Amino acid sequence: MKKKIGLGTWAWGNELFWKYNQNSDKELRDTLQEAIKRGFSIIDTADSYGTGKFSGRSEQLLGNFLSEIPKSQKRKIQIATKLAPYPWRIGKKGFIKPFFSSLERLQNELDIVQLHWSTAKYNPLQEVQLLENLSDLINEGYHFKIGLSNVGPKRLQKLIQFLGTKNKVISYVQVQFSLLSPDIKKQRILKRVCEQNNIKFIAYSPLSFGILCQDPSFINKTKKSFLRNSIFKAYDHSTLELRETIKKIAKSRSVSMAQVAVNWCSYQGAIPLVGLRRKSHVVDIAQVLKWDLNKDEYERLEDSAKNCKKLPGNPFSSN
Ligand SMILES: NC(=O)c1ccc[n+]([C@@H]2O[C@H](COP(=O)([O-])OP(=O)(O)OC[C@H]3O[C@@H](n4cnc5c(N)ncnc54)[C@H](OP(=O)(O)O)[C@@H]3O)[C@@H](O)[C@H]2O)c1
Repeated sequence: MKKKIGLGTWAWGNELFWKYNQNSDKELRDTLQEAIKRGFSIIDTADSYGTGKFSGRSEQLLGNFLSEIPKSQKRKIQIATKLAPYPWRIGKKGFIKPFFSSLERLQNELDIVQLHWSTAKYNPLQEVQLLENLSDLINEGYHFKIGLSNVGPKRLQKLIQFLGTKNKVISYVQVQFSLLSPDIKKQRILKRVCEQNNIKFIAYSPLSFGILCQDPSFINKTKKSFLRNSIFKAYDHSTLELRETIKKIAKSRSVSMAQVAVNWCSYQGAIPLVGLRRKSHVVDIAQVLKWDLNKDEYERLEDSAKNCKKLPGNPFSSN
């Protein structure tokens, strides 16, 4: 399979965790343009991205920026959003309004619609009906592929079967997948189910919010939100050995620590979905397409990650 990389836009409009500021919009536009130029495959957003007065901001910015790019340059890129199964979005028409709102914000640039999280733990019928809603929309002539997020292997198999009864397939699954992810064994089982069913497996937060590219010799506290600084501090000690290994590999290959952490995902056949808001980071991450980790490097990373404290998982993730 050809190596692929995705660009994530959770930070675009998020003040609380990512300290979004409207003054950065020009940089975000450059980030997107550079990613398209450098052969990124997927741009991922969600209808819940954007906090407070910036509600819907990520989709909106993406829609605006995409409208400025000629069609010929966008042919190879897939635009993916995630619709949130909020408790009030219920029944077989629960996604109608959110779907059309996303379509409007994205100015009709929408190729993949994903269920943002599984409702199996508290309302199993809800997600089934919302997926039926997506299937009906496709039958009505809207062209998009269906994806899932924060789903477990058992539930995925049930949902594949359900959509099969509607002659539909699941094309993408995205879950947290990085050297600091919790439940890595479960995620690998999930990945196997994906492979058996021709589903593309997307690794979100591949840099663990940036912790994995933090130089082990110092903590850079600048420009981060209070929340993000607290997380970096909480994981500083237990990730030290891992970050030293990442740094050594990076140095020996003359690449960045970020490239090493992202290539750990690619080595396993996952599509890394990297959160990006700076053109310079796109330029750096695009280099991942040009080299691969070898077996020894992969094993050293695995070994160093063993004793790290793992990040919290998505509380809704199903079994
Ligand atoms: N489905 C879900 O529930 C879910 C949950 C989380 C995320 N996601 C998706 O996955 C995407 C990525 O995950 P994420 O945003 O959590 O974080 P991430 O990709 O693990 O980390 C992103 C951060 O790493 C830093 N970074 C990126 N490239 C770098 C480079 N080359 N050198 C140094 N630092 C670099 C940047 O920090 P600075 O910008 O501060 O420099 C960036 O904001 C999201 O945007 C979203 O689309 C989905």
